[in-house]
Amino acid sequence: MAGMLEGKTALVTGGGRGIGRAAAVLFANEGASVAVSDLSVENAEETVAQINADSGQAISVPGDVTVAGDVENMVQSTINAFGALNCAFNNAGIAPYQVEAAGQNTAEWSEESFDRMIAVNLKGVWLCMRAEIKHMEANGGGAIVNTASVAGLIGIRTSSAYTAAKHGVVGLTKTAAIEYAKQNIRVNSVCPGYIETDMTKTAMELRGDEILKLVPYRRMGVPSEIAEMVCWLCSDRASYASGGNYNVDGGYVAQ
Ligand SMILES: NC(=O)c1ccc[n+]([C@@H]2O[C@H](COP(=O)([O-])OP(=O)(O)OC[C@H]3O[C@@H](n4cnc5c(N)ncnc54)[C@H](O)[C@@H]3O)[C@@H](O)[C@H]2O)c1
Repeated sequence: MAGMLEGKTALVTGGGRGIGRAAAVLFANEGASVAVSDLSVENAEETVAQINADSGQAISVPGDVTVAGDVENMVQSTINAFGALNCAFNNAGIAPYQVEAAGQNTAEWSEESFDRMIAVNLKGVWLCMRAEIKHMEANGGGAIVNTASVAGLIGIRTSSAYTAAKHGVVGLTKTAAIEYAKQNIRVNSVCPGYIETDMTKTAMELRGDEILKLVPYRRMGVPSEIAEMVCWLCSDRASYASGGNYNVDGGYVAQ
């Protein structure tokens, strides 16, 4: 049976580890040619090696999503290698502890940490969408999935700028979905709950029991559970899905 993404080409940002790596691997297993992007060249190449060793087709297109030139370059390199860009998973992101803001309430965040969080988690997504949409518009359409978060839907204590950025991603998703429906570009976001990756390691070590009590399923998700949703959203099976925010969170925001 043909894979869900057979014959498609895809770009995955933050594809060097965690959710992005799981998505890149699943995309390739489902038949896509995948361009793996990450700030970490080494990690992106590791994902590529994993895919190619499994008879998939992948290339590494490293870059920083906060730098417009890098983003243009990753999109163009994908097109140069595979001839088109059909699917994009804009997933690169950072957590509050990565900008030295862990555990800080709104008024305690430094301006520098706030700006960095918005630059990576919100502007980075917009820069990617801008470059991807220009190409997709000229090529008959495409599918974009942005990684938001449950923090894009509800407030989360001590995650001020993170929550603001992820709400922003939800807003960008809805707006672009409306704007580009005519051009056949579907735009959705995925809203993961607590997922087992390097990003959540420290928080889980410090207050894992407390966090899991808030999750109806009483466990964390794994990256492949997010990848499944993203893969479906990128596929033609999701042909009428646009402008949506899809929670994959063990029931976290349903309460
Ligand atoms: N893990 C969770 O529980 C969870 C929950 C909700 C949302 N998310 C979101 O999912 C996405 C992936 O998170 P993850 O858990 O896989 O984290 P992760 O830290 O394992 O992976 C994130 C990847 O993004 C890359 N990255 C960071 N800044 C970048 C930049 N400026 N340019 C390019 N690449 C950059 C990192 O190098 C890393 O490989 C993020 O957007 C995150 O906010 C994660």
